[in-house]
Amino acid sequence: MDKILVTGITGQDGSYLAEYLLSKGHEVHGIIRRSSTFNTERINHIFDRLHLHYGDLTDGGNITSLVNNIMPDAIYNLSAQSHVKVSYEIPEYTCNVTGLGTLRILEAVRQNKELVHKTKIFQASSSEMFGWALPPQNEDTLMQPNSPYAIAKLFSYNMCRAYREGYGMYICNGITFNHESPRRGLTFVTRKITKFIADYLLGKTKILRLGNLDAKRDWGFAPEYIKLMYSMMSLHKPTDLVIGTGEAVSVREFVKLAFDYVGLPIRFEGEGINERGYVYGNKIVLVVDPVYYRPNEVSWLCADNTKIKGTLNWEPEIGVSDLVKIMIDADLQRNGLSTIGESSKLFKNFSWSTML
Ligand code: NAP
Ligand code: GDD
Repeated sequence: MDKILVTGITGQDGSYLAEYLLSKGHEVHGIIRRSSTFNTERINHIFDRLHLHYGDLTDGGNITSLVNNIMPDAIYNLSAQSHVKVSYEIPEYTCNVTGLGTLRILEAVRQNKELVHKTKIFQASSSEMFGWALPPQNEDTLMQPNSPYAIAKLFSYNMCRAYREGYGMYICNGITFNHESPRRGLTFVTRKITKFIADYLLGKTKILRLGNLDAKRDWGFAPEYIKLMYSMMSLHKPTDLVIGTGEAVSVREFVKLAFDYVGLPIRFEGEGINERGYVYGNKIVLVVDPVYYRPNEVSWLCADNTKIKGTLNWEPEIGVSDLVKIMIDADLQRNGLSTIGESSKLFKNFSWSTML
């Protein structure tokens, strides 16, 4: 049994990782932030089995003392101000958490003589770092980040590489492409769409407002990527790996898949900000709202996953159409509606976790 510290444990990935680590018999520690409302919704079902500590990645003293007190065998750094659009509104804060936060962890481990060559570190790096680079992107692609979030992530990625090479520390970068789940935050586009559909079927809402429908993403399934993060940390030699399915679709295609799944085909007409989505013949259900546009767009991310397939003997299990089924069924279930029902068999390989 290892003692493992997870930052970002209240987030989508952190909650799945905590469950997975518990299922492997580890002692799981997590950092949570003080908040005026409850922020542990995703981990409430395992709350009693976790060791939770108040902390914040912007507080160097706090991070150092947590590391020194817990003395973890491994740290998964999953915390971040993780929203790309929001990073344009709060660039300095984003760099402080998503960039400097990582450095604070690295320094806390490096300065502890007992931990420096013992504690393994996993850094949640991002395909967003590729920015303007054309697909498919792999570990050798020249990174051209174009948002404050991506630039902060690239800082962390490079810092991790420098500490690995310079100090001989065990540090892996998982360069994950977009991954989603029923626990995805409501302001990310996939969950915004699947939650909208469940609310629409209940008559709670009428119009879905989205930004750039042309952007293409390589959408995978979060619990599947969590298992890969764990496998990476079992490698004899630390390395950096791209994690993605190798297939990308546009936001518009994701919308179509989602509406199709509930038997409500959507038809698109118009271009740019005049594009609309119609159901039942001519009923408007989707409009483009420029408020969701970003100053710089990352238009096409698609993984070249050759290296991880070879290194971890992995083949992607859940592609985007199955992902849509899982997410819609979960949002229908949350709304008290009958599910379409194709997701339970897809989720069965992830039985260490609950779907919601
Ligand atoms: P998420 O749901 O947004 O979770 C982010 C986590 O970070 C939350 O637990 C959040 O705490 C915590 N956090 C934010 N600011 C913090 C601070 N100042 N100090 C300490 N903790 C802080 O993100 P996710 O989707 O699980 O992603 C996990 C990691 O992978 C992130 O680093 C993200 O940038 C990266 N990533 C994600 C994807 C993806 O598609 N999901 C792809 C590539 C990389 P609260 O709950 O209190 O807000
Ligand atoms: N959020 C959001 N909301 N995005 C929209 C919307 C909308 O209403 N309409 C269109 N989009 C487009 C965005 O412009 C982007 O091109 C795409 O949908 C995906 O947006 P997000 O779901 O916000 O994800 P992201 O790709 O920007 O960032 C996610 O993936 C990164 C990995 O590539 C986040 O999870 C990051 O933390 C992660 O690093």
